[in-house]
Amino acid sequence: MTMGFEQEYQEALALIEGELAAGFREDGPHRELLDAMEYSLLAGGKRVRPVLALKFCQALCGEMGPALDYACGVEMLHTYSLIHDDLPCMDDDDLRRGRPTCHVEYGEWLALLAGDALQSAAFERLAASARTSPAANGKACGLLAKAAGRDGMCAGQYLDMVDEGRTVEPDRLAQTHVWKTSALLEAACLLGLTASPIPPSPGQWAAAERYARELGLAFQIRDDVLDVTSTAGELGKPIGSDEENGKTTFVTLYGLDRCRELVAEHTELAQRSVSGAFERSGFLCALAGSLAERKN
Ligand code: IPE
Ligand code: IPE
Ligand code: MG
Ligand code: MG
Ligand code: MG
Repeated sequence: MTMGFEQEYQEALALIEGELAAGFREDGPHRELLDAMEYSLLAGGKRVRPVLALKFCQALCGEMGPALDYACGVEMLHTYSLIHDDLPCMDDDDLRRGRPTCHVEYGEWLALLAGDALQSAAFERLAASARTSPAANGKACGLLAKAAGRDGMCAGQYLDMVDEGRTVEPDRLAQTHVWKTSALLEAACLLGLTASPIPPSPGQWAAAERYARELGLAFQIRDDVLDVTSTAGELGKPIGSDEENGKTTFVTLYGLDRCRELVAEHTELAQRSVSGAFERSGFLCALAGSLAERKN
């Protein structure tokens, strides 16, 4: 019997949650640092990036297992980015994943360190994976580093911050979104392909890149919409944060109705990209569709 989308998502989620939770059992004089890392990591986000890693691997080789360490790594890196994004010197937000943000709970310096340590733990996890070859692990580390750093997520966060209070041209805002959001989603997809013992064709690699770019644009535009239309209770993070911080978003540039159309357009482009390239693309298309309508 074939599983439905929701069931498949839950199956992947259970694998990820089990693995993430296993990493924090030890004791030591730095237990409070581990607590702060665990507090943010195990707060139950959507786990979109690790699900993408597992499902791209499965789309290629039929199995999710080889990508499990890579999936955990990309979620650790993402969680670090959220802890730092919420700090008073950045978006200054006090709610994340339905809980007080890491710095509200543990104080600023410990939140900063928890983020730092999650970032290095991510690379440690990739580098040491016994589910994949040393060569694949090296490639995976390079992919994640590029996506997270000066030509990826950090570059996007830089533009996002430096543009606060300014009017931003549409092309520059799209570049911000691609860097701050698509880059890490792209790394997740490519990590899944890298973990597969059956290598992807160049066409499949390019299709995953296109999927992630479009999915990331749709995802961040939807995020901007929800910042205006949702409630903190439903979203698990504050609403109105963008306006309060003087951010130009897709909503301020185009309005809510056009944003909903743009989300649909980018989602369709993402779906088209993978449906031509992978036989098992059903879940990836359904995931893009469900994220376009997500409520949190
Ligand atoms: C939030 O990411 C940051 C953005 C890129 C918009 P998610 O919406 O994936 O947050 P979690 O992981 O589910 O909490
Ligand atoms: C942040 O974008 C993206 C990251 C790289 C963390 P936002 O600042 O819009 O994310 P939220 O709304 O706080 O989750
Ligand atoms: Mg931000
Ligand atoms: Mg933010
Ligand atoms: Mg946001």
